[in-house]
Amino acid sequence: MPRQFFVGGNFKMNPATRDAKVALAKTLNDATLDDSVEVVIAPPSIYLIPLQEVLRKDVKVSAQNCYFKTSGAFTGEISPSMLADSRIPYVILGHSERRTLFHETSVDVAQKTRAAIDAGLSVILCVGETLAQREAGETAKVVQEQLDPVIAALKPQEWSKIVIAYEPVWAIGTGKVATSAQAQEAHADIRTYLSSNVSSEVAESTRIIYGGSVTASNCKELSQQPDVDGFLVGGASLKPEFVNIINAKQ
Ligand code: G3P
Repeated sequence: MPRQFFVGGNFKMNPATRDAKVALAKTLNDATLDDSVEVVIAPPSIYLIPLQEVLRKDVKVSAQNCYFKTSGAFTGEISPSMLADSRIPYVILGHSERRTLFHETSVDVAQKTRAAIDAGLSVILCVGETLAQREAGETAKVVQEQLDPVIAALKPQEWSKIVIAYEPVWAIGTGKVATSAQAQEAHADIRTYLSSNVSSEVAESTRIIYGGSVTASNCKELSQQPDVDGFLVGGASLKPEFVNIINAKQ
């Protein structure tokens, strides 16, 4: 069964103004998009519901994070059930900025993933190594260690709700995109690890997408790699070229 190509746009803490948000929605609403691609955009949480109300129906929205509790004294947090209740189908978890700036561990990410699945959400699960770890030849080991707590937390059949985003930290926001060979190697390693530690069916069906300085000029070559099933796009998702990235397979 071929894996459906997936393109996510992680707006991060952007755009700064409401008008820019409306302009982004208009760009997508007016575009001709490859209808074989699953498109998901992740605006700041305050914009999730207003954007969903004006966006074309074939583009989904995602939160950029959530907590693992359903409710309680957790100032500033959003629960998975609140997202589900607001008809938000996806949540990004484990982004490297959450891991480095907000000190989230892989156990935290697994706990959040478990809670998101329990609430009926799908998860874009981010993994990836730092430059120092890559230069030390530790890429596969680091990514496997990030996956292990999630593998322990999920039943095999729940992996249908997971999209893995391999995002080398050294490529995020730097303009230094991974080469196609680097991305393919890391994705193939992840798929092999899933096959050994979950099942061959899960390994074959789970989408593994690439993130880190993806642009309209590098997306086509990356999209032709056998184990690259799409992209998680940061900066370029805020620009009209995001449409070209969505249509990379055309
Ligand atoms: O989540 C995607 C993001 O981390 C990639 O950012 O700006 O390098 O495309 P960027």
